[in-house]
Amino acid sequence: MFNIFSRAKPKLSDLIPKNFVDIHSHVLPGIDDGAKNIDESLKMIYEMSMLGFSKIIGTPHTYEGVHNNTNKSIEKSFQRLQEKNHENIAISYASEYMLDNSIFEKIRSKSLLCLKNNYVLVEMSYISPPINLYEIIFELRTNGYIPVLAHPERYRFLHHNFKEFEKLLNHGCKFQLNLLSVSGYYGDDILKISDLLLEKNMISFVGSDAHSISHIKIINGIRRKNFESRVRVKNKKQLELALDNNSSFK
Ligand SMILES: [Fe+2]
Repeated sequence: MFNIFSRAKPKLSDLIPKNFVDIHSHVLPGIDDGAKNIDESLKMIYEMSMLGFSKIIGTPHTYEGVHNNTNKSIEKSFQRLQEKNHENIAISYASEYMLDNSIFEKIRSKSLLCLKNNYVLVEMSYISPPINLYEIIFELRTNGYIPVLAHPERYRFLHHNFKEFEKLLNHGCKFQLNLLSVSGYYGDDILKISDLLLEKNMISFVGSDAHSISHIKIINGIRRKNFESRVRVKNKKQLELALDNNSSFK
């Protein structure tokens, strides 16, 4: 039956443009808290291709002491997956780097794995920023990198200090919104900040940040938010612009 309310609130999957490039995902097998093995990676990739994704950049965590990845471990995991990927979808790799002191050496040796050109995906702890946050950003910028901050909306310590978002942008960061945030997956407070960041045109890119197949669709009857959920932000135009911007990572 025709439902005006469901038309007003499209599903996340309805907004995925043709040739969408996902710049943030944990599809590479067995090297972080994402896909556990190749079988799970392939299932995720299949579902993402069904949603219309044309390219997926695997961005496993590089987080000293938690996910001790190196360029070698990431390349190896990528190669194992690439050999088995027969979907009509391109896979490449980079990393999601924790902003901590271990990144300095990688910046200075210019060995960071980039999404494309000099764009590098970075994240912070959800509890607090590093005390030398702006020193790290300065080091990235002066070495020619453009930091793309993953899911700025998920750092609750910034929610009541909105000026800090502006400061991060003024220091040369770009923001990547998690697509699941606009469905309320991470909570209504994160949904609200996502809408505000969109309204103020502060979001450059988006990403799935998919760690498992349950982030993409309902499995085993477990109902949680995924790409079939409704988009609950008001600023859909800005969201669509950010979705389109991702095509620059083709
Ligand atoms: Fe991530």
